[in-house]
Amino acid sequence: MGKLEIRGGIPLYGEIEIQGSKNAVLPILAGCMLGEGACVIENCPRIGDVEDTLEILRGLGCRVKREGNTVTVDASEAQGYKIVSDAAVRIRSSILFLGALLGKMKKAVLPQPGGCAIGERPIDLHVEALEHLGVVFARRIEPRPKGQDAVLIAASGAGLHGGRVRLRLPSVGATENLILAAVIGDGETVIEHAAREPEIDELCAFLNLRGAKIEREPDGSLRICGVKTLLPVTYRMRADRIVTGTYLLAAAATRGCIRIRNFPAGELDALLALLQRAGGRIRAEGTRLGIDMPDRAAAVPYVETAPYPGYPTDLQSPLMAVCATADGESRICEAIFENRFRTAKELEKMGARIAVEGRCASITGVEQLHAAELCAPDLRGGAALVIAALTARGTTVLSGTEYIERGYEDICRDLRSLGADIFRVEKTKSGS
Ligand code: EPZ
Repeated sequence: MGKLEIRGGIPLYGEIEIQGSKNAVLPILAGCMLGEGACVIENCPRIGDVEDTLEILRGLGCRVKREGNTVTVDASEAQGYKIVSDAAVRIRSSILFLGALLGKMKKAVLPQPGGCAIGERPIDLHVEALEHLGVVFARRIEPRPKGQDAVLIAASGAGLHGGRVRLRLPSVGATENLILAAVIGDGETVIEHAAREPEIDELCAFLNLRGAKIEREPDGSLRICGVKTLLPVTYRMRADRIVTGTYLLAAAATRGCIRIRNFPAGELDALLALLQRAGGRIRAEGTRLGIDMPDRAAAVPYVETAPYPGYPTDLQSPLMAVCATADGESRICEAIFENRFRTAKELEKMGARIAVEGRCASITGVEQLHAAELCAPDLRGGAALVIAALTARGTTVLSGTEYIERGYEDICRDLRSLGADIFRVEKTKSGS
């Protein structure tokens, strides 16, 4: 288990460049399975989930090369349709290979996906929608020599056709899977109640650059006209809006003043409005955006996470860390995932006063938290604990950094560039 050591009490100050977007690059990498030739993805973040995805691509026969933040994927020779890599059970986004393999091979065999334990995370919406387009599913039990048998999803896309499908929930992953399954073919597919997250539009921009025909209708539906093939391109990832939001919240918590050099304009309006109400002074200058939080943040009377463009669930835990020392009573309701308040228990070890009742948490802001020994419960919960430690009196030791490294390329490097006193504690020989 990796550990971070964070000495609190230093307001963040300075300017920072944000890494490429995790939740946009993962479906785009799956999309590199489709069409011809080698795609070059620039500004690809060096994070755990990407490395796991590259392992899956190699396992399917793709030629994958990484040079710094540039990844090249050539699926020309890839004939694989069965994912056996353990990486697939570590990450949620392995499920996106279902759509990509159905689009390319017209069949797919893969394990149930993994991902942060923030809820049950079923895939019923993916299955129902693809069945509506003619995909036939079966479950395969694969005996494992050592230990538990593997439960695999087996899907046949021989009968895959275009059509109109309506999602019961605007699921990000289900929307992405449908796009990847429908983009190559000779039918037209309309996805009603599609997710509107910017990462979906970035996937569509990448595919359209390759020759796809995908349009966002005025009512938010996605219309996909299948094409014969897709051409290779070079594509540069936009900044990660959740990493951006994390650092803006860290600046607010520490009463700092930071500027984002490559701010993903228009993608964080709900957060910016909330930060302004909490007392933050926001200055937008072209692709730059600055926040100055001169005083203690005012409490957030009520916020509920919602599908985009609502307040993002991925910034719920980081916001809770800010509310822990805000002035007054805050209330946060988590309407997307059913188990995403595990950070509260860790914050309480630092003196936070949080009452979780079902899908809502009430936070009574305290003057200051104190350092503690903490354990990251998941990716964004880990980032939230870093924010809390930046404000706390004393030096916090945070374990479970492998969660954080799944989504943040180098949170120590980034925060140190803003003046934070944060270091990775190298594992001792004993591994402690
Ligand atoms: C994506 O997860 C993101 N992950 C998540 O980010 C993000 O929190 C989530 O979208 C919501 O914005 C990636 O893009 C890799 P959903 P996804 O399908 O696609 C339920 C992070 O920290 N649901 O939109 O799994 C589901 O249980 C991660 O970067 C079903 O019921 O999210 C949840 O309650 C965490 N059945 C809700 O819908 C299904 O078949 C939203 O899930 C699918 C989803």
